[in-house]
Amino acid sequence: MTKMKNAERLNKIAPSGIRELFSRAQGIPGVISLGIGQPNIPTPKGLIDSVVRLIENGDNYYSPTPGTKIFREGVAEQNKRDYNLDFDPNTQILATASGCEALYCALMAFVDPGDEVLIPDPSFLTYPRQTVLAGGVPVWMKPTKELKIDTSNLQEYISERSKVIILNFPSNPTGEIMTSSELKPIIDLAVDNDLIILTDEVYEKCIFTDDKHIRVSNLDGAYDRTILLNSFSKTLCVPGWRLGYAAGPKEMIGQITKMHSFVVANAPSAQQNAIGEFINTSEFDEFTKKLRDTLMERMIKIVKGFNSINGISCRKPEGSFYAFPRVTFHKDYTTSKELSEEIFEKQKIVLVPGTEFGPSGEGHLRASFGSSSLEQIDEVMQRLEEL
Ligand SMILES: Cc1ncc(COP(=O)(O)O)c(C=O)c1O
Repeated sequence: MTKMKNAERLNKIAPSGIRELFSRAQGIPGVISLGIGQPNIPTPKGLIDSVVRLIENGDNYYSPTPGTKIFREGVAEQNKRDYNLDFDPNTQILATASGCEALYCALMAFVDPGDEVLIPDPSFLTYPRQTVLAGGVPVWMKPTKELKIDTSNLQEYISERSKVIILNFPSNPTGEIMTSSELKPIIDLAVDNDLIILTDEVYEKCIFTDDKHIRVSNLDGAYDRTILLNSFSKTLCVPGWRLGYAAGPKEMIGQITKMHSFVVANAPSAQQNAIGEFINTSEFDEFTKKLRDTLMERMIKIVKGFNSINGISCRKPEGSFYAFPRVTFHKDYTTSKELSEEIFEKQKIVLVPGTEFGPSGEGHLRASFGSSSLEQIDEVMQRLEEL
């Protein structure tokens, strides 16, 4: 009898369908992938030069557990500069090895077995999986027609075991953004029921409206119970570097740091120092503007393309780099998953079934335009039209 049976906790979570599609599509000629969510805009040259210089000069060792001073001071300054938000760099910021690690450590630090975590439906597929890994119970918050969180009856999600609420704007996969007045009932709910707010703002620089990004920590009543989770994967086009952070009240960041010290011990050092300096330069502001403009051009094309195809309708995302078109089915495929398979098999296009992001994703496909050129978007639409 082998003892190499996996731990029970893994049986409770489904593998990531996005990563599976990503692996399947590798090496197949002619495939166009609108699957994985990473931007292909070249990483800023000044940032690359700086990390190379740091590594050549010996910045190759462990960093302090909470992160380097340069990084934490840089993050504090950028939050002040862009959002007039104060974090003490010594106690309120933790450098993490990615946004995913920040989320994991936060959930592990605060969720006890049986605690409930309120999660927008649909949303980033890692939220329910990490909740389950922490022993928690995901509670889906239903969407409105526009796929924002329906705030008409939030109380229905509350029980004795409610502990955490996760927010993510701009949203993966819908691209929706909620305004501060739309968010007010959610913050009130958190205050009235003593919930911790985890706000994932990794798409803060990918916004297509004229409105400025809202830091949830800045909303009335939120600061003392909110942990901002962030990452540079999308903002600086460095998903391979694995660098993010958590920022929030001192005591809470202290608990997350305790968890982090036993998960990865510290985030990559040279990347912290390079990014900590870069994010308060004019090159950073120029780069994030270029990122947004490039993504916006693709967004306009992809939305127009989807809407020109019979049986598909697509809202304009307000941010992120995802379109989440609604599809009508046909006798040969009656679920998003079957349709996604059909499109991959027949037309060699990777589109993620909406159900990967929650039950309300049925009837949708998610298309990432982070890495697709305008020509590829045209080609995708031609192939879909044929199908
Ligand atoms: C909403 C959201 N949060 C967090 C992440 C994780 O980013 P990373 O782990 O690369 O920092 C992603 C990645 O796709 C995401 O879409």
